[in-house]
Amino acid sequence: MSSPARPRTVLVTGSARRLGRDMALALARAGWQVAVHYRDSHEEALQTVAACAQLSGDSAAFDADFFDEESVRALVPRVIAHFGHVDAVVNNASLFEHDDVQSFSYVALEAHLRSNTGAPILLAQALHAHLNERAAAGEELAHGAVVNVLDQKLWNQNPDFLSYTLSKAALEAANTVLALALAPRVRVVGVAPGLTLTSHMLSQERFEQLHAMSPLGRSSSSEDVAAAVCFALENRAMTGTTLLVDGGQHLQRFERDFSMM
Ligand SMILES: NC(=O)c1ccc[n+]([C@@H]2O[C@H](COP(=O)([O-])OP(=O)(O)OC[C@H]3O[C@@H](n4cnc5c(N)ncnc54)[C@H](OP(=O)(O)O)[C@@H]3O)[C@@H](O)[C@H]2O)c1
Repeated sequence: MSSPARPRTVLVTGSARRLGRDMALALARAGWQVAVHYRDSHEEALQTVAACAQLSGDSAAFDADFFDEESVRALVPRVIAHFGHVDAVVNNASLFEHDDVQSFSYVALEAHLRSNTGAPILLAQALHAHLNERAAAGEELAHGAVVNVLDQKLWNQNPDFLSYTLSKAALEAANTVLALALAPRVRVVGVAPGLTLTSHMLSQERFEQLHAMSPLGRSSSSEDVAAAVCFALENRAMTGTTLLVDGGQHLQRFERDFSMM
């Protein structure tokens, strides 16, 4: 009798709450062991871990502030120390602070680039190195995948959230470069949500109006985005491309960021 396949492990960054939590739960439902990364949301991370563990057996929480390079570099080794291996990374965590050309500063740019661009690249680098080690140790199927969570606003730009936009534009460029540089060991796929969850900047009523402003009459739900992440991790032919999951919002022109409308 052959032994059962080893469960696959995925690190989902920023998955204590909101979109990341729904990605973690969808992946656990699909049988993945989920490493739940968080920065400040400790209690929510433990709740996500408990829900994931119920679905797929094992889950654990790992804190790291992505502003700090050493913390980012330590993250994948900590996940491997717990699970024994890691097969995929979902780069979901994201700093989203407002600036525009008037308020722009190196401080804002650096904070966004570190969190939203530098950390995803370092985590992809660490996954690639780990899979190379597994291949060198004789593992035949040492392949993995990275999902970079982007934003439809890259295809539909406006003057708001300048540093955030630059950091996601750089991540979108990295999506292509990494797909080439890390092949064939690691696939790299972008997933770009439209307006999905509201923020403190919008009333529920205004959010619902804006959510309906798309060719399909609704932008994305958290479940739509999570389903695209699951698909990207499973599809062995996809790399260096991005799935826009936004009800077609990127096809329209918006003068401001949704949270400023
Ligand atoms: N929400 C939307 O409608 C929407 C639309 C388009 C694109 N997106 C993209 O989808 C993803 C998820 O969106 P979201 O609204 O769920 O995100 P979010 O709530 O703004 O942030 C997700 C998590 O990122 C973590 N984080 C932020 N800065 C960090 C840092 N320096 N180091 C480590 N962790 C950090 C936070 O973890 P802690 O809470 O633990 O501190 C936070 O909970 C993001 O990549 C976003 O750009 C979202």
